[in-house]
Amino acid sequence: MFILLNMPIWVWIFLILAGSLFVLKMTYVLCTAAALPATQGALYVSTTRTRIAAFIEAVPMKKGQLLVDLGCGDGRVLRQAWKNYSVRAIGFEVNLLAYLKAQLLSIGLKHVEIRRKSFWSQNLAGADVVFCYLYPDVMRKLSTKLKAELKPGTLVVSCNFSVPEFKPLRVLRPDGSLHSDPLYIYRT
Ligand SMILES: C[S@@+](CC[C@H](N)C(=O)[O-])C[C@H]1O[C@@H](n2cnc3c(N)ncnc32)[C@H](O)[C@@H]1O
Repeated sequence: MFILLNMPIWVWIFLILAGSLFVLKMTYVLCTAAALPATQGALYVSTTRTRIAAFIEAVPMKKGQLLVDLGCGDGRVLRQAWKNYSVRAIGFEVNLLAYLKAQLLSIGLKHVEIRRKSFWSQNLAGADVVFCYLYPDVMRKLSTKLKAELKPGTLVVSCNFSVPEFKPLRVLRPDGSLHSDPLYIYRT
């Protein structure tokens, strides 16, 4: 106790910072583990700003159109599309940490809606543009869902992983990731 009280202030600051970081990391791990049955491996990793900018430029949207992000993370793609095009934006997110961050960052944005639900249980027929950054293991199942539900003309943008049985309109390779990972753009 005596040793603790006599520790210099910088040691206290270091311990508080390290402790907070540890708690945050553990929260990330726990939230990721809890969401695994729904995500089937898609971790909460955000798309970089450069890649979002490339998406926004390549896929112009009209005011009022509906953009859906399947696993929206902190909702950054939705907010950027709303800022640029005044779209309605809905994101589904099952990871509690990502969901809370997305809710917090979207406070006051009437047309950006974050739902804590698995997108597998949602019908996507109303979407004009679908964005996703998921995991290879689920792409075949996603392809079946998109084919069954999307209306003709809907644009689908997939980060990093292609959608089986869909023929891309364009493949972008924007900078901003280690390997300039692709962004696949499809039209149903
Ligand atoms: C790689 S992150 C992408 C986040 C965001 N779309 C972006 O580009 O910044 C994938 C996210 O999808 C979420 N996710 C995966 N499967 C999901 C499901 N079935 N329903 C809702 N969210 C899901 C994960 O929790 C994770 O946060």
